[in-house]
Amino acid sequence: MRKPLTELPAYDRLRAHRGELEGVHMRTLFASDPERFEHFSCALDDLLFDYSKNRLVGHTIELLVELAEQAHLSAAIDAMFAGKHLNLTEGRAVLHVALRNRSEQPAYVDGRDVMPDVRRVLGQMRALTDAIGAGTWLGATGERITDVVNLGIGGSHLGPEMAVRALRPYAREVPRVHFVSNVDGADLVETLRPLRPQQTLFLVASKTFTTLETLTNARSARRWLLDGLALSGQGGAEAVSRHFVAITANVDEAVRFGVAAEHALELWDWVGGRYSLWSAVGTSIACAVGMDAFEELLTGAHDIDEHFRTAPLGQNIPVLMGLIGLWYHTFWGAESYAVLPYDQSLERLPAHLQQLDMESNGKRVRRGGEPLDGPLGAYGTGPIVWGAPGTNGQHAFFQLLHQGTRLIPCDFLAPAESERPLGDHHEKLLASCLAQTEALMRGRTREEVDAALTAEGLSPERVEALAPHRVFPGDRPTNTLLFRRLTPRTLGRLVALYEHKVFVQGVLWDINSFDQWGVELGKALTSDLLPELRAERGPGAHDGSTLGQLAYLAAAAASRPRPR
Ligand code: F6P
Repeated sequence: MRKPLTELPAYDRLRAHRGELEGVHMRTLFASDPERFEHFSCALDDLLFDYSKNRLVGHTIELLVELAEQAHLSAAIDAMFAGKHLNLTEGRAVLHVALRNRSEQPAYVDGRDVMPDVRRVLGQMRALTDAIGAGTWLGATGERITDVVNLGIGGSHLGPEMAVRALRPYAREVPRVHFVSNVDGADLVETLRPLRPQQTLFLVASKTFTTLETLTNARSARRWLLDGLALSGQGGAEAVSRHFVAITANVDEAVRFGVAAEHALELWDWVGGRYSLWSAVGTSIACAVGMDAFEELLTGAHDIDEHFRTAPLGQNIPVLMGLIGLWYHTFWGAESYAVLPYDQSLERLPAHLQQLDMESNGKRVRRGGEPLDGPLGAYGTGPIVWGAPGTNGQHAFFQLLHQGTRLIPCDFLAPAESERPLGDHHEKLLASCLAQTEALMRGRTREEVDAALTAEGLSPERVEALAPHRVFPGDRPTNTLLFRRLTPRTLGRLVALYEHKVFVQGVLWDINSFDQWGVELGKALTSDLLPELRAERGPGAHDGSTLGQLAYLAAAAASRPRPR
């Protein structure tokens, strides 16, 4: 069994080293090393990763790499690519890298090369999305499909929705792609309101094909279709088979729902939900941008997979991202990190990364089951991930980033060129991005504030009163990822970087990043409560709060006027 993180030799050295860096302002680090940017940045083609605005020196990286070596990170990376069952609690391989394997190399799971299956499904996706784009996929009334609605939640929604928004400049005119995830009927009702059943195709994306939200939405969508077409019986079954495609590892259940077997695109148990946008779950992306662009997305991810697999740890971008994040979360007590894309197209990236990171690394026991708050020494695991596009965030929460009391490392992302150039908008966007990381790093000292306020003509008393509020401590860490343009290939690279970053941290924390048992209890209690809410049976053995809320809802239901 691997030693816990806190017992690895480099752990104590890093703790001591953190003490040495305490109080050393990043301004000093930049002043003492004129080549700090060169020392702490690296490039992969047009992608620049600048990590120089962090509380670290060369020795920090050396120690973090030592920690990674002591945690056997390279062996874990090899094990993932070799299709080993890293997901111990579910007995599964973790092989999303096979989905974007653009080489001729095989990818084995349990001794079987899965690449023929991967290519077969990619071929099905191409046939389907080409037919929809060309207008040859006809609905039940012989009309072409103009609108595709993805019904899915979590990993079957967030990644595809993020990618479709990000790649809007690459989108084909037809079909328009929509997303419905929430079991709140408003989501489905509002999305379907402007659509015509005759020209709408539903993609039911659910690995398990049992998820409450997705199946409820799929059944209501089927009702909407059949009502809209005024069909039932054999005609209805035929219509469902033309208007529904399933993406699932549970093909039998999809067929029982009414999907034609040839329209059930397969995914496999070695694809985790939050890592599935590269699989047939990405069909909505391919519908929007075409299969060639979808394959470019895969190529971008494959670029990063190759880099992750082969680059030395100290020059490996996702490894560095993971180690720097761990440096703050484990050694400096940072509880969260912010993802701040200076690109409106990436507005849903923080939401996707929330699931990716928090569902993967929000764990409280080690791989062997030992609790992390047990006798072996406590350390926190997955951080809280949040964020919003710049410059919007600047006018919302940046105040706290600059002058609040919490340490919140931030990732800034920006394209050098806009996909939607408009006057000088992009220059202003980029200037804002650079200004924020500089301000977070430098801050503004009391002396600088005093001098500025005095120069404005304020009295010494007024300067004294105002100055403390106008000081910026600075020394607030940021990474910056710059890239030429947000193409499908670049998007693939960015998402894969974060996937591997999460992997690195999971390995060092010695947790299983690939299960999600923490979502089960709420699901089980929902099934218990549903018949009670429907008054099909009396209240069960709940706590007083839950009973009180049930009573409130029962009273509200009883007082609702009955529809005539
Ligand atoms: O929320 C739990 C979860 O299992 C996620 O991991 C997954 O992405 C989501 O539900 C949807 O699951 P499915 O694709 O099986 O409907």
